[in-house]
Amino acid sequence: MLDYVADKLPGHNQDIHNEARQGEAYAPFANDPNTYSKKFYIESYGCQMNFADSEIVASILNQEGFGATRHYENADLILVNTCSIREKAEQTIRKRLTEFKKIKDKKPGVLVGVLGCMAERLKSKFLEEEKLVDLVVGPDAYRTLPALVDGAEGGQKAVNVLLSREETYADISPVRLDSNGVTAFVSIMRGCNNMCSFCVVPFTRGRERSRDAESIIKECKDLYDKGYREVTLLGQNVDSYYQAPPAPQDGIVRTVTFAKLLEMVAQISPLLRVRFSTSHPKDITDDVLHTMAKYENICNYIHLPVQSGSTRILQLMNRTYTREWYMGKINRIRELIPGCGISSDIITGFCTETGNDHSDTLSMMEYSKFDMSYMFFYSERPGTLAQKRFEDDVPEEIKKKRLLEIVELQNKLSLESNKSDIGKTFKVLIEGNSKRSDKDWMGRNSQNKVIVFPKENYELKKGQYVMVQVHDCTQATLIGKMV
Ligand code: 5AD
Ligand code: SF4
Repeated sequence: MLDYVADKLPGHNQDIHNEARQGEAYAPFANDPNTYSKKFYIESYGCQMNFADSEIVASILNQEGFGATRHYENADLILVNTCSIREKAEQTIRKRLTEFKKIKDKKPGVLVGVLGCMAERLKSKFLEEEKLVDLVVGPDAYRTLPALVDGAEGGQKAVNVLLSREETYADISPVRLDSNGVTAFVSIMRGCNNMCSFCVVPFTRGRERSRDAESIIKECKDLYDKGYREVTLLGQNVDSYYQAPPAPQDGIVRTVTFAKLLEMVAQISPLLRVRFSTSHPKDITDDVLHTMAKYENICNYIHLPVQSGSTRILQLMNRTYTREWYMGKINRIRELIPGCGISSDIITGFCTETGNDHSDTLSMMEYSKFDMSYMFFYSERPGTLAQKRFEDDVPEEIKKKRLLEIVELQNKLSLESNKSDIGKTFKVLIEGNSKRSDKDWMGRNSQNKVIVFPKENYELKKGQYVMVQVHDCTQATLIGKMV
């Protein structure tokens, strides 16, 4: 079933549907029996926030004597960090949990835990009705994991799905799982107050709260010192980051807005690239755009989900902007940051969507010239405003037909955008070998486009910057040569 189409770019706070990444064995720790007496395996689904959360979980478990393993067959504790954003995601995860249940049945003593949004949404249903898992832990309760594991080992029901207004895990240094050693995600806030009518996130991740700026800067500096050269600041709605520390002695209140935070991170080193995701069009300010323009190391790339091109549908979605307002934002970005990469999220077949509304979405895509989009058909989620207020009345065939049309248009736009880069030279951060050949490097330009180019005979390493001239492209990749 096609309900999701996307290029898997790590610079996004988006689904990596059906593409669970596995927790990497953390050599030498995981193999050192003196440090870690037990092993955990973690699989993550959904948005980048979930992947970042799994790294916090890894850190908490390390402290408790659990080392990570890549192989669930070797694990004493199997964890699945779950996503509820669409029904399809939940179905995929449910299948996976059924597979892990079989392992549990064969190997008594192995514990299986469900973390994240599905844990929060379904709460103890997993334990009571289905006996699929031993632990159910919501996104704000990871500090209690060690106690819950102890309890589950003793045969107790281990559930904690309390949401918090304060928890940001600010003091926990994430253990980088599956890292390329060059790019990393840094979570700057949690939860969401927006209440888009289709979205389950405000219910599963709770109220919005910002992490204190000092701990964010410290984490980014540490990453830089360890050789990382790109950080992506993560949040459901990064532009509403806000911190108002108590007034110091001098009486000046030093509030930190998202623009200020971006600047603080950019000042760590000109060699550290800064990205962020996700921006809500209503919250991204001129201040943020000016800050992006001012610092060369803040990447010229914005993920700005439009969701629909029809003002009527946007209103039903509770997005709080109109079609014209969004177009104005696109114009402003292009004016202040010429050549900025822009990508989007789009939903087809939302409640009452007509052929005309759909045409508005297509023309919005043409107008905005998105370089890339994540595209979905609407999936009704229990408990959301849309589920309570509106009928899910667009037939599935029509949702899918419209999805195919937007996918085709996006493919055309992506190819056009890439073709317009032929002949241009970009500064590229090398992330590693290209997927196809270890004779080629793969990296990204500031606009977040993937560029592949031959290594030639230079002594280069990942984490270094090179200038690459583009001479060819596909819809997803630029192909170049070092200059
Ligand atoms: N159905 C389809 N897509 C959804 N998204 C969020 N909720 C739903 C839903 N119920 C999409 C939005 C959002 C992205 C993360 O997932 O486009 O920006
Ligand atoms: Fe969901 Fe809207 Fe919040 Fe994004 S901004 S997490 S779509 S409610």
